[in-house]
Amino acid sequence: MKIVIANESYFKYSQIICDTIEESAKVRGTGIAKRTTEYIEKRLKNGNAILALDGDKFAGFCYIEVWGHEKFVANSGLIVHPDYRGQGLAKQIKKAVFELSRKKFPDAKIFGITTGLAVMKMNYELGYKPVTFSELTDDPEFWKGCQTCKNFDILTRTETKMCLCTGMLYDPHAKKKVEDSNLNTKAFTRLKSIKEQLFLKKKEK
Ligand SMILES: CC(C)(COP(=O)(O)OP(=O)(O)OC[C@H]1O[C@@H](n2cnc3c(N)ncnc32)[C@H](O)[C@@H]1OP(=O)(O)O)[C@@H](O)C(=O)NCCC(=O)NCCS
Repeated sequence: MKIVIANESYFKYSQIICDTIEESAKVRGTGIAKRTTEYIEKRLKNGNAILALDGDKFAGFCYIEVWGHEKFVANSGLIVHPDYRGQGLAKQIKKAVFELSRKKFPDAKIFGITTGLAVMKMNYELGYKPVTFSELTDDPEFWKGCQTCKNFDILTRTETKMCLCTGMLYDPHAKKKVEDSNLNTKAFTRLKSIKEQLFLKKKEK
């Protein structure tokens, strides 16, 4: 398995990346925004993306986005092809995209939003902390990226204050505290279920 920093020579993978994201969104039913090939190619071209390849075969992907004049960067769109899941590949991609973000934007706060417990666990191990949406970028363009997520109406109703996703942030300038490096997954599963009951019930009324 090769983990590479993307460039234009990887454009041939943009379609399979979009298709895998779309298929996974259908299967999971929540919390994944669709992306176009143009959108993916822009990230491949500017070297702000990581690809995992098994020989020539697409295995996984994640990209960096820059917000608020480089004060914030987001690590988004993590996807592992179903054939390669459960082998620690997402963890390797996440680590590579995190290291690339730190190298290219050393002073930026790194953040992500997710409904996925797997992603929360990986972020936590990298030093991210759960935060409210108000601590993330206030750039409206970031939230526009959620328009193709099926829960976008919740985000609109709450004026981008909360949604089913949890915000997580790595602050390079925060003082490191010695604490448990394991995420309290029980608490987050419970929180997600409370949010679903609250927001999805309202939606049905
Ligand atoms: C989520 C996803 C990226 C995980 O990829 P993967 O390569 O199978 O993950 P890894 O094998 O590297 O596992 C990383 C950690 O997450 C855990 N994990 C993986 N899938 C999980 C799941 N569905 N639920 C809970 N934990 C999970 C693993 O146990 C591992 O934790 P550990 O180190 O404590 O054992 C992959 O399932 C995927 O592409 N899903 C669809 C897209 C998606 O949900 N993207 C995230 C959008 S925010």
